[in-house]
Amino acid sequence: LQKIAVLTSGGDSPGMNAAIRAVVRSCAYHGLECVGVFRGLQGLIEGDFKMLDARSVKNLINRGGTFLKSARSKDFHEKEGREKAHLNLVNEGVDALVVIGGDGTFRGASIFIKEFNFPIVGLPGTIDNDIHGTDNTIGFDTALNTVVEAIDKIRDTANSHNRLFLVEVMGRDAGHIALNAGIGAGAEEILIPEEDMGKDRLIESLERSRKSGKTSSIIVVSEGDQIGKNIFELAEFIKTNMEGYDVRVTVLGHVQRGGSPSCYDRVLASRMGVAAVDALLDGKRDIMIGTQNNKMVHVSFEEAIKEQQKIDLELIRVADITSI
Ligand code: F6P
Repeated sequence: LQKIAVLTSGGDSPGMNAAIRAVVRSCAYHGLECVGVFRGLQGLIEGDFKMLDARSVKNLINRGGTFLKSARSKDFHEKEGREKAHLNLVNEGVDALVVIGGDGTFRGASIFIKEFNFPIVGLPGTIDNDIHGTDNTIGFDTALNTVVEAIDKIRDTANSHNRLFLVEVMGRDAGHIALNAGIGAGAEEILIPEEDMGKDRLIESLERSRKSGKTSSIIVVSEGDQIGKNIFELAEFIKTNMEGYDVRVTVLGHVQRGGSPSCYDRVLASRMGVAAVDALLDGKRDIMIGTQNNKMVHVSFEEAIKEQQKIDLELIRVADITSI
């Protein structure tokens, strides 16, 4: 093994830069060459490569986003695109690839390994925390802190006006951001795709809260939740069915993807980057690096993409109890 390429793909997440930095410096430490691929799998197809050394990644650990840029590549879904990508890697003399991204990236990587027998190690980088086989993905913790900070601010104004706020958070079809940030921000209700609450039960629950003396409420709505899918319609429904409640909607959107990574994400990304190069040196060629019970683990891509990370039922119970 002499030369490793690294790229970030799919939606960016805070801590991706820290992960790239760890991969590049790990290569330098082991005397390997490292090449950065710009714009993810699309850049691989277009041969957008640049050599990186230990100093190329200075002042990066604290920066959000990804300096290698990211993209969601349609061309990589086509055999022709993947063939071009493979040819570019061979021409560049690259022996192995580290991909940092989410399940879509890993699906592409998995096909690529089978087609060309090319070694790839993946690092889970997504704010959604929806990857099976790892307790945490790079960027999840930072996104949670961003959401909690925003909801704390919304709570101030909700309280001042006795209002009910619907706050939409990201997560695609997974409710990890909503559930964790909802607990952390003390939300009255948390709507997640994994648990169908139904509109009527929501109204009943809100009525109970009002009777128990609550004058304002925060409902955290995961973007993939069935009744929350159209959050403005949900707001109208609540207005119509709950007299005297002034309802407002805040969609947090891409603010959740940006910002300086938390210390947790920086450390996680650094550990995972080092573990990726270790794994390649150890002959691994078809795995994701994960963390389970705070230990670094190897998870086959097949395992990582076969299903989504499940919601922790204990957290649902904690949310129910603490929002009484
Ligand atoms: O996967 C990360 C994520 O931010 C999801 O939470 C969200 O549904 C999606 O990406 C948004 O994608 P885009 O940035 O392409 O609009």
